[in-house]
Amino acid sequence: MIKKPILRVLSGESVWPPPVWLMRQAGRHLPEYRATRGVAGSFMDLCFNPELAAEVTIQPVRRYGMDGAILFSDILIVPWAMGQGLTFAEGEGPRLPPITDAAGVDRLDVEGAASRAAPIMETVRRVRARLAADHPNTALIGFAGSPWTVACYMVEGRGGGEFKHARKLIHQDPALFGALVEKLEAATITYLLAQADAGAEALMLFDSWAGQLAPNAFRKWVIEPNARLRAALLAARPDLPVIGFPRLAGPMLAEYAARTGVQAVGMDTAMDPAWAVKNIPPSIALQGNLDPEVLIVGGPALNHEVKTILRAVQGRPFIFNLGHGVEITTPPEHVVELLRILRAA
Ligand code: CP3
Repeated sequence: MIKKPILRVLSGESVWPPPVWLMRQAGRHLPEYRATRGVAGSFMDLCFNPELAAEVTIQPVRRYGMDGAILFSDILIVPWAMGQGLTFAEGEGPRLPPITDAAGVDRLDVEGAASRAAPIMETVRRVRARLAADHPNTALIGFAGSPWTVACYMVEGRGGGEFKHARKLIHQDPALFGALVEKLEAATITYLLAQADAGAEALMLFDSWAGQLAPNAFRKWVIEPNARLRAALLAARPDLPVIGFPRLAGPMLAEYAARTGVQAVGMDTAMDPAWAVKNIPPSIALQGNLDPEVLIVGGPALNHEVKTILRAVQGRPFIFNLGHGVEITTPPEHVVELLRILRAA
């Protein structure tokens, strides 16, 4: 059997034209997503409905022919499964009761998390079966948030800011923050291995707020936890590739790539792909990094920006993606145009 293009890239091969998927491809820019979301009820109801979550995972694959299907779930499912409350207020993003002290960390239930996350694994099984039947070249990508980014939400209780409580806490009470990260890591390893057992073929670690940290804090709270996660996954599943995405890491991306053991790094919008080609070890694949705003604009700007990225990474193991998630106002026709440009490369 011929290996799926994304899995070939993740095993170190340069595949050309490069395979493509987009962060947040399963989401509100698609009318069929909005329709399914309407049937499901809330965002959390959709995440925990395996039939509908599998459907929205497949939707962008069906419409665009993506090479990757990203599991429909959220990085905040792990804290929810550990017993921290979570709601998504319509139009306002996530809300969690903030963790401020040792009692808050003690209450987190690592052992019970797996059974609460079980419906997500049923989604993974259904998606994998449907890909096998209808989209045999598309790889199923599972994911979790990385400890730093998820802890930011757990401490802050919400997104939308600069996570100043979490950034203070790592200096005021590193032992408390370390205890939080330790529990989060344990639950995340179990959660990711369950996804692999259910059929995920690659995993991505989203560290969306990695770029908030000074270099030494980045080493301690981004590189070290992701390296430990990677090592634990490797011990249990030696062939399972991992993509790391420490967003806005800047030059720290090189150290992240060299030290975490990931098979690919995601480049955010601000990263210069030519810099990444020079500074990331050539055995590690690159993924990214079109500005999501360019996909809204389309036309000659889209063509020009895509070709600029392709020129920089040609010859490297490379997966095309955006530098951050698809925006809600993105016209689906522009995604079709993007795939046409890529397939002709
Ligand atoms: O296509 C996919 O990528 C589907 C799976 C997915 C979602 N969230 C679905 C989602 C993935 C991989 C994520 C990751 C995620 N979630 C991250 C890391 C990536 C990034 O964007 O930096 C983060 C930080 C979150 C936390 C989160 N989830 C926030 C801050 C929000 C609210 C933002 C908003 O625009 O409302 C969410 C909600 C969310 N997660 C939506 C989707 C499709 C929108 C919810 C809806 O349908 O109402």
